[in-house]
Amino acid sequence: MKKLLLSSLLLTASVFAADGYEVYKNKCQACHTEMMTAEYALSHLNELVAPPMVEVSARLKENIKTTDEEEDVDRYLFILFVKDYIVNPQLDNSMCNSGAIEKFGTMPSLKGKINDDEKQAVAEWLYDRYENTKF
Ligand code: HEC
Repeated sequence: MKKLLLSSLLLTASVFAADGYEVYKNKCQACHTEMMTAEYALSHLNELVAPPMVEVSARLKENIKTTDEEEDVDRYLFILFVKDYIVNPQLDNSMCNSGAIEKFGTMPSLKGKINDDEKQAVAEWLYDRYENTKF
């Protein structure tokens, strides 16, 4: 009984501090592969249902650039964009190139399937995971 209580307390605690990589694995990985080279992606386009995460991260970083010297500002805007896009994906907001959208269609909304902590965690993960990775 004590053990059960303890483990349910631990479970609750981990829900509050969502782990971005876990969120990615549970809610994004089915469509977005974590890592592949651009060459591989191009030659396997027919097997992909969405752009790989490494590409999504790189594309957003290219597009979300303020003149601000502080990289923190760009990271903050990147996270805001991702948190919004996953529950409100729209053609108008997308930074994918039009060819990609034509191929994949717009991402289905995760509204109701992801909570605020998970959104924050996965958006931070998406920025930081590919910090030193080019696509
Ligand atoms: C059912 C498949 C599917 C799932 C699950 C999914 N995505 Fe996507 N996602 C797509 C597709 C398809 C696109 C490309 C078309 C587009 O930009 O809407 C995309 C594009 C994106 C973009 C790029 C938007 C842009 O402007 O380029 C982001 C960011 C993104 N997904 C984040 C996520 C995150 C984070 C998760 C998990 C919490 C997730 N996606 C789960 C299918 C999915």
